[in-house]
Amino acid sequence: MPHLDAPTVIRTKRDGGVLSDAAIDWVIDGYTHGRVADEQMSALLMAIFLKGMAPAEIARWTAAMVDSGERFDFTDLRRDGKPLALVDKHSTGGVGDKITIPLLPVVMACGASVPQAAGRGLGHTGGTLDKLEAIPGFTAELSKAQIRQQLRDIGAAVFAAGELAPADRKIYALRDVTGTTESLPLIASSVMSKKLAEGARSLVLDVKVGRGAFLKTEAESRELASTMVGLGNANGVPTRALLTDMNCPLGRTVGNSVEVAESLEVLAGGGPSDVVALTLALATEMLDAAGIDGADPAETLRDGSAMDCFRALVEAQGGDLSRELPIGAASETVTAPHSGFMGDLDAMGVALAAWRLGAGRAQPGEPVQFGAGVRIHRTPGEPVAAGEALFTLYTETAERLPAALAELDGAWTVGDTAPTRRPLIIDRM
Ligand code: URA
Repeated sequence: MPHLDAPTVIRTKRDGGVLSDAAIDWVIDGYTHGRVADEQMSALLMAIFLKGMAPAEIARWTAAMVDSGERFDFTDLRRDGKPLALVDKHSTGGVGDKITIPLLPVVMACGASVPQAAGRGLGHTGGTLDKLEAIPGFTAELSKAQIRQQLRDIGAAVFAAGELAPADRKIYALRDVTGTTESLPLIASSVMSKKLAEGARSLVLDVKVGRGAFLKTEAESRELASTMVGLGNANGVPTRALLTDMNCPLGRTVGNSVEVAESLEVLAGGGPSDVVALTLALATEMLDAAGIDGADPAETLRDGSAMDCFRALVEAQGGDLSRELPIGAASETVTAPHSGFMGDLDAMGVALAAWRLGAGRAQPGEPVQFGAGVRIHRTPGEPVAAGEALFTLYTETAERLPAALAELDGAWTVGDTAPTRRPLIIDRM
């Protein structure tokens, strides 16, 4: 093998070259084991961000990240004597995107089993783990034995990737604080390394498009979707994707505990119509991908069986839903300057407000505030009366409120007519 060193690998990508398979394997292995320093990987990530990667480089980078850790295999597990229908879903990152929380119980109730390696917040977007950990006692640090037991007994486990793709865990945390999140090769390899390693037999991706997504244009999101679908199919995990709107936040909450509370409303048969619609659309895709016929996902929300599955999942992972969800002690309400209709609502402005309130991180490993977030009282198209509450902001740290209010300023309008919105589900690939 030729001699490899980090400065040469960085310079190759900085100058627009293609990294060899050997260079990719070496740098991922070296970073995982501490032989490549954070500052060297940061420089390489920025070079990848600026220069991109060829399809073969993305495939090798993803494979090297999978090979950095264990690959789970649950095909030996049986329920009622039958192999488990192992399927998962992953989103490329959105604002108010709490869909995993109601979706998992819906598909559990329909007979699927979901081994879900979930992530923490990244950039302006929230993470499923940060949200679920807002439930008092909930832990995502599960042993492999516990994941296997939950899959067999209740049909799902949500876990921190841990020993799966440990290279992604380190790179993900570094991207979060080095301005290198919004990169197609880095998103595709990050998502797919975890998903190929976690033991799902098929996969449904929710690829976000719009202002609150990492990739803003439909063309970029389509390319991301087709790259990830290609990676899944080439690695023996049949993969499909929905392209969904992320110009406005999903639902009426953005943050941690506020999103859990909204998910509980959905599981109780209510909740915002967009959250319900996307949950059911993704559930339909997951059940089809898992080969489960004849189940009605909507019925599981009406008859309470999805709520029962959520309770079982939370209890298995140490959570206590009888205790109150935390909510920030300091709050501020933004009111309507005049009557009309809620106009545009920029997902990025709302996301940055939630982040400033403490719902996300500015430093690697920093704790998030579970009770930080934004409640949206009026969504686009809804009538608004002068002086009525439009948003409530929550934080534990009152000094954070002015910066959060400044992010929200200019992210919304109240107009004379209701705006037209593009469909929630833009395409299916
Ligand atoms: N989800 C991930 O796991 N990684 C990304 O880069 C974006 C979303």
